[in-house]
Amino acid sequence: MKFYEMSVEQRREFLGEAFGLTAEECQAWEVAGGLGQETANNMVENVVGLYSLPVGIAQNFVINGKAVLVPMVIEEPSVVAGASFMAKLAKKGGGFRASMTAPEMIGQLQLLDLPNPAATRELILAHKDELLDQVAHVDPLLSKYGGGPRDLEVRLIEQSPIGPFLVLHLIFDVQDVMGANAINTAVEKLAGPVEALTGGRVHLKILSNLADRRLARAWVTIPVEALAFGQFTGEKVRDGIIEAWAFAAADPYRAATHNKGVMNGVDAVVLATANDWRAVEAGAHAYAARSGRYTSLTTWGKDEAGNLTGFIELPMAVGIVGGATRVHPTAKANLKLMGVTHASELGEIIAAVGLAQNLAALRALATEGIQRGHMGLHARQIAIAAGASPEQAQALADQLVSEKNIRIDRAKEILAEWKR
Ligand code: MEV
Repeated sequence: MKFYEMSVEQRREFLGEAFGLTAEECQAWEVAGGLGQETANNMVENVVGLYSLPVGIAQNFVINGKAVLVPMVIEEPSVVAGASFMAKLAKKGGGFRASMTAPEMIGQLQLLDLPNPAATRELILAHKDELLDQVAHVDPLLSKYGGGPRDLEVRLIEQSPIGPFLVLHLIFDVQDVMGANAINTAVEKLAGPVEALTGGRVHLKILSNLADRRLARAWVTIPVEALAFGQFTGEKVRDGIIEAWAFAAADPYRAATHNKGVMNGVDAVVLATANDWRAVEAGAHAYAARSGRYTSLTTWGKDEAGNLTGFIELPMAVGIVGGATRVHPTAKANLKLMGVTHASELGEIIAAVGLAQNLAALRALATEGIQRGHMGLHARQIAIAAGASPEQAQALADQLVSEKNIRIDRAKEILAEWKR
């Protein structure tokens, strides 16, 4: 039986057996087995309950030669199916290649009240090693695993509403954690020594979400013949995808939507692992605007043989230890399912899923349009929202699609007719 043909319980059982998950870990996917109220109450303030979302498993992903099942947490229909389908096409070209740069995050210090900012910049750089020593052991666990401060950069902001000032960038290797806590501790510790050295005043001390030293990259090649379907030849689909990408590359209005499609995939995996999706979102969009004009996070083209080639690059501040990743039972089960042992592997998977998701959207937009694929699942949601029982939902969805009228008022009308 195919995975999508199984019941929800059968899917859990299947994954448990195939991936050596304990009964408790499989239960983490059940509402009652996931995040408990007590744990939730210790995570944030004024807790009144929990909020659930579906966990879907994207199939067919092969990344750096390794097959991986990818848990995705998302409310939008077609995302899990779209990623799975594109991963299937990618498999025909050997799957995705992916990599990550060093897990270096940036912590910022804003240094004010300097009579001569340019001279102070030189002074700080001359004392860089002593300053870095001050924060070498802020996180003993990170130091034990080889993390810690790597560099100190000083930027002169020449024009601002309050005049010129300096910004220090503490470059900190955070290994397998997301890094916000380590960085924020380190920049707060560094403030005193910087003030003592310069005579200036350190104002803000906080990480930057533009984590452009911690980049995830993924590449894919899809054989042109694998792109053909219906009346569309592989070449037509490929060229249509490249034209669609060119639109996003050139126009910020389109790039915002294009990148939203990328983030459908990215956020779903970030959320599934209880990572900070707002941090990843902020980083992605700031990175997309790094040239001064907001543009696409992906690039599509063709190779010499005429195959479609795709590439994605974006900041990836995610961890697999610390924070909620090790507190949330469902996130723990999701991480175990992917079998990742380092945050970099998780980042590579997320980049590949983002690229696949973008391809799914561009392929649909460049051919039959987005609504056709969306319609079936959307109609099911409308049917359920209109009050259809689980047994009625599919038949009602089919009727809405055949009438090309996927509206809740029509769904209610049909249900009322059936009742009569
Ligand atoms: C919808 O969630 C995402 C798309 O709009 C992305 C895109 O237009 O590329 C389909």
